[in-house]
Amino acid sequence: MAKATQQAAVAAPQLSGGWPLLGHLRAFQKDPVEMLARGAHDLGELHQFRVGPQAFVLFAGPRAHTAYFKAPDEQLDARSVYQFTVPMFGRGVAYDVAPEIMSEQLGFLFPELRESAMERFARIMFEEIDMFAESLGEEGEIDLPVEMNRLTVNIASRCFLGEEVRNQVDAGFAAAYHDLQAGINTLGFFLPRLPTPAHRKRDRARQQVVDILSRVMEQRRLAGSEAQDFMSALMRARYKDGRALTNDEVSGILLTALFAGQHTSAVLSTWTGLQLFRASDYLERLRQEMQAVYGETGTMTSANLKAQPLMENAVRECERLHPPLIMLIRKVLKPMCYEGMSIPAGTLAIVSPAVSHRLPHVFANPDQFNPDRFAPPASEGKQHQFALIGFGGGRHRCMGKNFAIMQIKAIWTLLLDRFDFSLNGAFPDPNYGSWVTGPQRPCQIRYRRRAQAGAVRPAREVRMA
Ligand code: HEM
Repeated sequence: MAKATQQAAVAAPQLSGGWPLLGHLRAFQKDPVEMLARGAHDLGELHQFRVGPQAFVLFAGPRAHTAYFKAPDEQLDARSVYQFTVPMFGRGVAYDVAPEIMSEQLGFLFPELRESAMERFARIMFEEIDMFAESLGEEGEIDLPVEMNRLTVNIASRCFLGEEVRNQVDAGFAAAYHDLQAGINTLGFFLPRLPTPAHRKRDRARQQVVDILSRVMEQRRLAGSEAQDFMSALMRARYKDGRALTNDEVSGILLTALFAGQHTSAVLSTWTGLQLFRASDYLERLRQEMQAVYGETGTMTSANLKAQPLMENAVRECERLHPPLIMLIRKVLKPMCYEGMSIPAGTLAIVSPAVSHRLPHVFANPDQFNPDRFAPPASEGKQHQFALIGFGGGRHRCMGKNFAIMQIKAIWTLLLDRFDFSLNGAFPDPNYGSWVTGPQRPCQIRYRRRAQAGAVRPAREVRMA
């Protein structure tokens, strides 16, 4: 267990190579993961660096993650770091309110993500992925990140926002949501309210999304109808003081969940596909597993998806190698101490899934794609609660993790059952220019429908049966 002592604390070691005034700005911009990995390799669990005037400290490895994730919000604060989301999610929700109110708001969604809701999600995923697969035809070429984005917007809008919003995806919702997403840029991170053309476009897009969502809420109220989705759950919810949520608050919380869950899922799904296309032996075993699970019924259910440990391990391995969020950031509000090293208030404290997941003393041969590392006897990642942190940890850990993993398993179960895929060109590098780290684009892949009938039957046939 890490000892935290206030006495005789020293500063964390400093990463070499910083420039006067700029600090490590250039290296950080060029390849943040390479820079942080060098620090973790040379300096161990904690090291500090500067980007311009801002001091940063990296917590690397499971023991240091424990101290990070267990620190209270009053010490390590997410809210001040994520202020750039306020113009997108709106006033009065998420990072615009005190942490205890944000948890009350997110808590309204928990019942909708419980185990029993997963069956409904599995059915929706099955139908949406089936429609997507049919839209591909017999063979062709696609830009995989673009298509995964399309598919996950359809799934998330239907599962979280409701059928009515799903039906408007192509009639304005997707375009407005896209413009809103484009509001996440470097300038917006530092000056989220600066009236630039991009920010004005973002604000207009938010209003369009809120208008669409508010109209659906009004229709539901007029019809006295309820649905099993986040929107109805939030419309029913009451704060501790008995107050109902306004349309704007409901929209803001829905946007928080959509932003947290959709693009991240699209990106992890993309990386999972890319890794599987070139892992021919593992792919063969996956198809045998699919045959064993779906051969009888052909139906995608949450129970069937759970009975696919090889697919589960492939997704976990891609979470390890390609975590969509390469850094989680908190502001140090109260000085902190770790293993005799002090971290002053004002520092930005980081954990980096991308760096920690490749520490060789935590994961053997860390650069190798080896999903079997998560199976017995190695069962890597189980040795420590905070070894695999692609979905965060502690009180701010991801609430949509089970949904996300199930979704990616569902996507690749059905698509690999119907098609053979291959990547055009070399395996892509990560694009660190975006808040969520996907592959460099374009990322073209070729596909061809498989001749033999697969194990998973088309959703339409299953419904008719
Ligand atoms: C592959 C997909 C996903 C990845 C990689 C991912 C990753 C993460 C990570 C790393 C965090 C912690 C952030 C931090 O500590 O600063 C987080 C938090 C969160 N995630 Fe996810 N997530 C995914 C999907 C989802 C989905 C589908 C939902 C939908 C409900 C969701 C909702 C949230 C929310 C609301 C939080 C904030 C929790 C809090 O601060 O209390 N995520 N996610």
